[in-house]
Amino acid sequence: MRHSSDRGTLNARTLEKDHKRLAALLRPGLSVLDVGCGTGAITRGIAKVTGDALGIDRDKSLVPDEPGFQHADILNFEPGRRFDIVTAARTLQWISNPQQALDRMTALTKPGGLVVVLDYSHERNVWQPDAPPSFQHFYAAFLKWRAHHGWDNLLADHLEDLFAQAGLADLHATTDDELAPPGLWPMMVDSLGPVIVRDGFLTDLKRMAAAGGIGAYEGTQALALRTVIGRA
Ligand SMILES: C[S@@+](CC[C@H](N)C(=O)[O-])C[C@H]1O[C@@H](n2cnc3c(N)ncnc32)[C@H](O)[C@@H]1O
Repeated sequence: MRHSSDRGTLNARTLEKDHKRLAALLRPGLSVLDVGCGTGAITRGIAKVTGDALGIDRDKSLVPDEPGFQHADILNFEPGRRFDIVTAARTLQWISNPQQALDRMTALTKPGGLVVVLDYSHERNVWQPDAPPSFQHFYAAFLKWRAHHGWDNLLADHLEDLFAQAGLADLHATTDDELAPPGLWPMMVDSLGPVIVRDGFLTDLKRMAAAGGIGAYEGTQALALRTVIGRA
């Protein structure tokens, strides 16, 4: 099971704003592999600093058709080289075996190089004030749907354990919660809602009610994110 990320959301991201722990580590000359690059907005920022970045993504429809990008799945990616830094931002949340992905990322990192992962714990997202009941119902279905597909709703909290299992050392973790960009959840209800309905976790009536509810909601949502860095 896969889903396609929203191009507009991905294109609006920048290295400095949306992967700032990585940005602080970059120097000219470092080679960087960006796993789950989507449309490449963050990867281009990396390349601008280091001069050597490769972005890979398993969704062919998103991967830019230009040098520095490749359609590939991290689980079986064999580039024939290693990198100073291997990173994944908001990617492992969509992989049902994140340990396997992290092990592969570690294997592609030069000895002494860094693995940098930024990801969510969707169960710890908080709405202020409470989101409308119709949307809370949708969000509960979203979490159940994700769990059904093996996607960890507390992934960010489990990253250090995954890093330790991968044999990574000198672990450094930071909390990087952020406010959801306006329009994120109306867009998610539109794009993911029909898939969640199709998979039997929500009725179409409840999906339509959630779209109306979250469309009119004027509060804020804090997304629970953490970055973990480890040395290979
Ligand atoms: C939410 S997007 C994040 C894109 C970008 N890193 C960012 O932070 O804006 C997650 C991306 O990971 C990709 N992805 C998921 N599993 C993958 C895998 N096994 N190998 C490569 N890419 C994967 C998806 O196709 C999607 O484009």
